[in-house]
Parts: sequence; C-alpha cells; structure tokens
Amino acid sequence: MRRLLVAGNWKMNASSSMAEALLSDILTADIQSCDVAVFPPFPYLAAAGVRLSNAAVQLGAQNCATADSGAYTGEVSVAMLQDVGCQLVLVGHSERRALFHETDAVVLAKTEKILAQDMTAVVCVGETLEQRQSGNAELIVKQQLSALLHQLKEAQWSQVVIAYEPVWAIGTGETATPEQAQQMHAFIRSLLAGVSQKVADETRVLYGGSVKAANAAELFAQPDIDGGLVGGASLTAEEFLGICRSIG
Ligand code: G3H
Repeated sequence: MRRLLVAGNWKMNASSSMAEALLSDILTADIQSCDVAVFPPFPYLAAAGVRLSNAAVQLGAQNCATADSGAYTGEVSVAMLQDVGCQLVLVGHSERRALFHETDAVVLAKTEKILAQDMTAVVCVGETLEQRQSGNAELIVKQQLSALLHQLKEAQWSQVVIAYEPVWAIGTGETATPEQAQQMHAFIRSLLAGVSQKVADETRVLYGGSVKAANAAELFAQPDIDGGLVGGASLTAEEFLGICRSIG
C-alpha cells in the first residue's frame, strides 16, 4: 500500500563535481522499485534541480527557515527551495536538534511552512542511547511528534514523511536491529492512528541510522518500515543504489 522511499541525506558533504557525478549515476540506474530522493547541501540544489527536472528522482533540502523572507542573514526560505526544484525538506534531524537547538516548536513551525508551500516535510525523530537505556525511547519519540499530531489537519499528513532515526545508530555503524526498528515504527504508526486510520495506513515511516546495502533488505522487509533515510551510504552511487536495489 505504501511505496517505499530511499532518501539520501548528503549532510555537509560533496562538491559540485561529486554532486553531478552522483546524480548522473543515480539517474542512469533508473530505479523503479521505490521512490528515490536526494538531499544535497544548499549550494548544489539549484544545479541538481535542473539535472533532476522531469526525472523521477526527487530533490530535497536539509533545512529551511521559519520565516518567509526578510532580514534573516544566512537563512533560506521554503519558497526559495521550491523555486530551485525542491519537493521535500528535512526537519528536526537529530544533528539540527542537538547542534542548532531545533526544538519541537521550531520543527512544527518549519513543517507548517513546508506544507503551506505544497511541499513534503520529512520529519526526523529518535532517542539517544541514554534515553533508550533508561526505557524512555517511546516517550521521547511521542513527545517529538506530539505537536504535529495535535496541530496538523488530517489532509496535511499526505505531505508528511516521518523518519525514525535512533541517535545512537547515526553514523556509528551500529544499526537498530530490524526488530528494534519495527517495534518503534509500529509505535509511531499507533500514534498516527490517533489522527485517523487513513493517516496511519498511508504515512510513510522511514528508518535511518547506519543503513547500508548489506542491511537494507532486512530492515525494509519489516511491515512498518517504509524505506530509509541514508546518510554516509548515500555518498557513493554503488552503496546508495545497492540500498535502492535491495527492494524487490
Ligand atoms: O539522515 C541520515 C541519518 O542521520 C543517518 O546517517 O546513515 O550516516 O548513519 P547514517
């Protein structure tokens, strides 16, 4: 029912030549078995937008402003991102929460801006190792989603993707087991059912955290895992396409 999505978050990596080569390889591969999206750094978005125009591969940004325009030095608005061809924006990535103080209120504000622009928000949630070890993983994820669950209207959820990324699995090589991930994804889906069964059935919930070609198939085979948000392994075409191809 839900088409899987493999999304590559390049984070603050790549160069213009690397971006061009990576996009070229992804386009040539012509992946049909899942939706594919890439999230290059801001400076490479405009060229990527031209490269991907009319292509099935979707383009996303890693962040956006909460304001529409004006005196916000260094910020980039949602309208600007759409103007250069972005269809999606990441919100609430754990690196932004931890390093740039992105609170749940900011996550909600950015998400509302993205949805108002008819774009898709990929909202990231996930607990730290300490929070998991103290038995609070579900509580934390519920808190991170709470404002969205209460504020968004049912129809708006068609423009939301959730990415569950346990912080302890990001960039560490330590992946959540398929069972651990499935358990949290099922919990997230139960929260979505509080909005409506349709939202629970149709909203995609991605897993992120050391996804690679060797472990993707097992993760994506779980009933509530609808693809992946891939960091490090999205930086080489071989590994990223290997993840995409792991979907039968
Ligand atoms: O956005 C991607 C996630 O932070 C996962 O990163 O695949 O390098 O662990 P990773």
